[in-house]
Amino acid sequence: MSIEWSDEMSVGHEAIDRDHQHLFEIIAHLETGIAAGAGEQTVSHTLAELAEYARGHFDREERLMLRHRYRGYDIHKWAHDGFLDELARMIRRLEIGEVAIDQATLLLLLNWVANHVNGLDRELANFLRQ
Ligand SMILES: [Fe+2]
Repeated sequence: MSIEWSDEMSVGHEAIDRDHQHLFEIIAHLETGIAAGAGEQTVSHTLAELAEYARGHFDREERLMLRHRYRGYDIHKWAHDGFLDELARMIRRLEIGEVAIDQATLLLLLNWVANHVNGLDRELANFLRQ
């Protein structure tokens, strides 16, 4: 699996792109750890880092939306909250030993982020450019 931010992922908004690059970096870091057989504690630590960074990034996007009275705010915020809930659930289950984070989980995270960036975030960036 290759987890790399590429130019095609750019939504054309510098600050948002920078945040997205960092999100990808954390997910790539997760993959390296899992591939190297990192312990559950290390994995859940990196997942927590992902959750924290994602929360900050979503917050920045949401503030931009509010400031510019973006009509797509509700659905976009709902998508952000859903992702954070999912991550929190994953971390809890990992901590009580109910699940292990494997390649399939990573793929799930990566797909969510990639789809979100190419869908709702691209729409938002297009709006902000107008
Ligand atoms: Fe977003």
